[in-house]
Amino acid sequence: MEHTFILHSDQEIGKINRNIYGHFAEHLGKGIYEGIWVGEDSPIPNTNGIRNDVVKALKQINIPVLRWPGGCFADEYHWKDGIGTHSERKRMVNTHWGGAVENNHFGTHEFMMLCEMLECEPYICGNVGSGTVQEMSEWVEYMTFEGESPMTEWRKGNGRDEPWSLTYFGVGNESWGCGGNMTPEYYADLYRRFQTYVRNYGENKIYKIAGGANVDDYNWTEVLMEKAGNLMDGLSLHYYTIPGEFWKGKGSATNFTTDEWQITMKKALYMGELISKHGEIMDKYDPEKKVGLIIDEWGTWFDVEEGTNPGFLYQQNTIRDALVTGLHFHIFQEHCDRVQMTNIAQTVNVLQAMVLTNNEEILLTPTYHVFDMFKGHQDGNLLLAEKTEAETSEIPQVSISASKNELGQVTISLCNLDLQEEAVIKLKINMDLQTKEISGKLLTATEMNAHNTLENPNTVVPIDIEEISIFDNELEVSLPPMSVAVLTLV
Ligand code: AHR
Repeated sequence: MEHTFILHSDQEIGKINRNIYGHFAEHLGKGIYEGIWVGEDSPIPNTNGIRNDVVKALKQINIPVLRWPGGCFADEYHWKDGIGTHSERKRMVNTHWGGAVENNHFGTHEFMMLCEMLECEPYICGNVGSGTVQEMSEWVEYMTFEGESPMTEWRKGNGRDEPWSLTYFGVGNESWGCGGNMTPEYYADLYRRFQTYVRNYGENKIYKIAGGANVDDYNWTEVLMEKAGNLMDGLSLHYYTIPGEFWKGKGSATNFTTDEWQITMKKALYMGELISKHGEIMDKYDPEKKVGLIIDEWGTWFDVEEGTNPGFLYQQNTIRDALVTGLHFHIFQEHCDRVQMTNIAQTVNVLQAMVLTNNEEILLTPTYHVFDMFKGHQDGNLLLAEKTEAETSEIPQVSISASKNELGQVTISLCNLDLQEEAVIKLKINMDLQTKEISGKLLTATEMNAHNTLENPNTVVPIDIEEISIFDNELEVSLPPMSVAVLTLV
């Protein structure tokens, strides 16, 4: 089908916070241990214990911010167990995630080192559910204070003289569920108390993120904004795309029907409605949009791969995941006035991962490639892109988003959600296209469950778009079914 859009390259309608392209890595399954941390003595090439191949891959996609240590794990995590000499750190069982032994070898210093390697901002989630105000307060002090104090001395004794710079701090996770099963009223009061002791030391200014709603729990947002909106910089929201039902079978990552493809797209698009509705409530209390909506967990959630620990949440990743990713970014960008950060769950080996590992081997998923292709949008200004004909279908065939960076380079991303139909895209742009260098990348597949494996790592990889036609100020490109494309105009 043919789709015509008018792209107003002179109408910038908001700034796309680069943190929309953020990530989340939890102590869960092989997300941290094996996925990122292998230890200094590992035969897997590493730098101070962090595997080189994964860092190299992740650096390529310009991760702006990384959330850690959970997730549900955050409300069971006691940071003091994860500092000091490795062999002396406490061992515990990760009761929430698969009963794995947690040796605490990856702790605050290792996480901060990872962020330095990735050149990204740390986003730390503190423990409200089973922790204390003192514990949270001292963690911030340990990381960011440079004056005289027991925490500073302790940090120095553990080999780090300078405090780290830490902007993003979450006060609890899913406090309505695994983070303590609280009511919104109770959590709002706790939030007010805990956040008081999340101090700004010296130049370090913390952006405080309150634990927000699950999916469509609008009452949670209402209560939090009313009772504590003036004491937060961000409020979170969690929503996963699950084709089936959470407790009754979520659906397979690779073995699914065309109906499940459609349901998945529909459920991914639901993110738009959630942001609008939570956003309306936030607008009531915060019309100037000072409080960011922080979608710090999103992505596909399928049944685990056969034979893997159900608590490890290990799933494959297909071209369907790539489309879900593209759609989410378009939605987040459309709402860039309120959405200031998002964190896909999760970076390595867990849920909708970028990278899957098997001992010393790694592969890059279709989701990874979308992050790579879309990175031109980071920090860009969102442009108005209008469809010439009104959209009538519940699941549109094509989704588009465009931005312009400060150098004037335009990035246009497109998704063709259809399983069979090609989409012919006509883009009328008020720019002199003849003077532009135009290039394009395409991610597609011939099977809806196409995915990369260790044996065949290049089944779903981006290719150059060979044919982009230009007529005066109109650009035309054809997108095969099931594809994500990015055009760059320099
Ligand atoms: O990402 C997996 C889990 O999903 C997180 O630990 C939790 O916050 C959410 O329920």
